Amino acid sequence: MRILVVGSGGREHALVWKIAQSKLVSKIFSAPGNGGISEKAECVDIKTEDTFGLLEFAKKEKIDLTVVGPEAPLADGIVDIFNNYKLKIFGPNKKAAQLEASKVFAKQLMKKYNIPTADFEIFDNPGLAKKYIERKRAPLVVKADGLAQGKGVIVTKTIEEAIQAVESIMEKKIFGESGNRVIIEDYLEGEEASIIVITDSKEVLTFASSQDHKRIFDNEQGPNTGGMGAYSPVPMINAQLFKEILDRIIFRIIDGLAREGIDYRGALYAGIMLTSQGIKVLEFNVRFGDPETQVILPRLNSDLLEAMLATVEGKLAKFKRMDRWRWDERSCVCVVCASKGYPGKYEKGKEIFGLEEIKNIPDIVVFHAGTRKLISDVKGQKTIKYITDGGRVLGVTALGNTLKEAIYKTYQAAKVIQFEGMHYRRDIGWRALKRE
Ligand code: AMP
Ligand code: GLY
Repeated sequence: MRILVVGSGGREHALVWKIAQSKLVSKIFSAPGNGGISEKAECVDIKTEDTFGLLEFAKKEKIDLTVVGPEAPLADGIVDIFNNYKLKIFGPNKKAAQLEASKVFAKQLMKKYNIPTADFEIFDNPGLAKKYIERKRAPLVVKADGLAQGKGVIVTKTIEEAIQAVESIMEKKIFGESGNRVIIEDYLEGEEASIIVITDSKEVLTFASSQDHKRIFDNEQGPNTGGMGAYSPVPMINAQLFKEILDRIIFRIIDGLAREGIDYRGALYAGIMLTSQGIKVLEFNVRFGDPETQVILPRLNSDLLEAMLATVEGKLAKFKRMDRWRWDERSCVCVVCASKGYPGKYEKGKEIFGLEEIKNIPDIVVFHAGTRKLISDVKGQKTIKYITDGGRVLGVTALGNTLKEAIYKTYQAAKVIQFEGMHYRRDIGWRALKRE
């Protein structure tokens, strides 16, 4: 089969890496891909938001399955357009992608179908939003309704901060039209976890649990990022809690979507807070997580592509009956190496050293995110080097018999990698270790 993976981050590198292991694959393309992806896939210079460019490419290259990594093309309706041309594509359609693209839509659905989440109110008028805040007690969370590249959530400690957040989002429009409406919700205290499944609307195939680390600095300090590291599984999520998450969250939302006439096919990600009052949904995403995918896929012993195809074709029930979904018992840890300045402004183009040295160490994989491969030919002598090309640059990933061992191996490998200004968190997995 000929596969096209859309996206250019660490998540897409992990997807390409895993799909490349499938016996069904003959060729993989990635648009636009990155330095690491180019080792397993042919990278084509088409942007993720260029739906018609991707469509033309898929037609011309007779792509058998397109896999969409990020949320933006899904929210734009790439799946609907590919479906019109009878091209197979993995991911939810535009209506279903509202679950991530509109937090108002998601919260209303959660309320309607009795899915546990923080209490909230919706406002399209900043004056009324501020009045509401004045009647509440801090801390509060203010969320822009639409997509904001993962930055649309402002956790506020005081009433004044919450009012400022409303002004920034609704009046100054720091997230543009995404801030036409806001959600103001109660602050939840607890530990976060990510539960990812794939579904064809009727059946659900579960992935291992994982935990992301959102803040830039150790001890959860500093601003939020796309994610600075992850581990899987989350020891706290035992079989009983996992079942509760499926019953009270995953099955209810899929059933709710179906009742609304929405046929959801693709990955579904529930961001969950484990509070003293039980599990609550923070958000739904309509895609795989980044960096969660980097710690989940190395633990998957089965053919991801086969499962994705079954999802697209609505045949997950049959796939499940074949009983081929297997997980490695070991733990997996990913540490993200970021550019100086990230998540603010950062420089690009710094040479990355050390990749070659850890390339063939068993159970270590380096997933590339913001990197670019440069090939130079000096008098017939070919040299390859990788340079930084984004904020999150690499995800150093290791499997270990225990979480502790996986953490140790990951950091041993991370020490070998170097580029100017590189920084990474030193405490990935700390919550689980502390509990041990
Ligand atoms: P979201 O995109 O809605 O998941 O929000 C991004 C991040 O903001 C989450 O991963 C949490 O760390 C934080 N967050 C969102 N909602 C809440 C809440 N109600 N209480 C506490 N933290 C929250
Ligand atoms: N790691 C968080 C996300 O993918 O949304």
